[in-house]
Amino acid sequence: MQQAIRIEERQHLSKFVSPAVDKKTPFYRWYLYKHGYSRSLVNEIISLLGVREGDRILDPFCGSGTTLLVAAESGIEAVGYDVMRFPVFVSNTKLLRPRIAAIKKYERFFSVKTIDAIKTKIKFDISTINKVFDKKTLNFLVRFREKIRRIDDPGVRAIFLLCLLKTLEPVSNSKKSGGFLRIVEKENLRKRDVLRIFKKYLAEVKDDIRSNEITFRGNARAFVGDSRNIQPDEIFDAVISSPPYPNRHDYTRVYLLEEAIGFDRNDREIKQVRYKTLRSHVEAKKQFEAEGYTKPKELQEILEKMAKKELNNSKIIEMLEGFFEDMFITLKALKKIVKRGGRIAFVISNARYAGVGVPTDTLLSQIGELAGLKPESILVLRYRGNSYQQTVKYNKDPARESLVVWKNCGH
Ligand SMILES: C[S@@+](CC[C@H](N)C(=O)[O-])C[C@H]1O[C@@H](n2cnc3c(N)ncnc32)[C@H](O)[C@@H]1O
Repeated sequence: MQQAIRIEERQHLSKFVSPAVDKKTPFYRWYLYKHGYSRSLVNEIISLLGVREGDRILDPFCGSGTTLLVAAESGIEAVGYDVMRFPVFVSNTKLLRPRIAAIKKYERFFSVKTIDAIKTKIKFDISTINKVFDKKTLNFLVRFREKIRRIDDPGVRAIFLLCLLKTLEPVSNSKKSGGFLRIVEKENLRKRDVLRIFKKYLAEVKDDIRSNEITFRGNARAFVGDSRNIQPDEIFDAVISSPPYPNRHDYTRVYLLEEAIGFDRNDREIKQVRYKTLRSHVEAKKQFEAEGYTKPKELQEILEKMAKKELNNSKIIEMLEGFFEDMFITLKALKKIVKRGGRIAFVISNARYAGVGVPTDTLLSQIGELAGLKPESILVLRYRGNSYQQTVKYNKDPARESLVVWKNCGH
């Protein structure tokens, strides 16, 4: 029987929803994921859920590994999954601590001359790559990557690759903007600027390792995997995560340069990953059956209301249906691997299409109940798009970004 769940305000946490607060935090700053959350928010969730040192937690949408790093700091074991290789690589690399002397040893061999001397030929069949880089820069980046691959110390190799991949956006004619990669005109950079930016990021890495301000005690590791297909061969004390929001953002486009240049993905492979991501954007395709799922009545009414409006993409209704099905499949899979009494906490945002609001938090809370979990709370972390002007001009309600918590009361 569904019970109305209380929505409580926790807006003092609003600034911790975004990773911007970690711009200077050692190790976390090695790569700040656009769609990530912050170290402080994860710490708050850990104490809210009562997770303790020695426990094991899971993040089924680990992105840049914020949950994993905080867990490792607190002596908590953690496992993360993500469908894309780049975020998994970022998460694991942020946990590495190679010796400074080893980094310096290899760094000496990276100059424009030594990189230019590398012989390699790669053609990209992804039109965006050829649009956002001029030929010279792209060739240089590919040689740079090839030289990094020849480093025989795996820790140094990963850190160099992370710094190079972080360099891609600033040296390209592109900008990560909302859920897409926008093509923008920038000043032309030279090869030595690529190297300069790379070395700037590498200097931060060295500073953080040297300062040793934060220590990692727990085991944490990320793997490529799908939240809807987690195998029940391990048990976790809790889940802390932030799934993709149903806002049409496509991570395979936002991180296209990193995924293609870092991991040799061609156009067909990137599209395959795109289709496999959670149905939070219109190009993702159905992958799994949602057995035992019935659409909540409230969602049905919202979609009917939306169907009468003019939507700027005809696939939005199908996407929203798919999103909630995929979340049901995920929550059902999580129920099997969270211990009795353990909790699952998701940070999620509401959405709005053609003026019709989608209360993702309350809908997901109900869907978790359908998957056998007990809804425990919805804590509103912040409101977005709630400026007075917007409210008046677009007659907009602010979108809630909330923490939804369930308890696993039995198997
Ligand atoms: C909101 S981000 C997580 C950000 C993370 N909390 C952080 O701080 O960096 C959601 C992640 O889910 C991943 N994702 C999308 N579909 C997935 C799926 N079916 N299974 C696992 N991960 C998926 C995306 O690639 C993206 O990295």
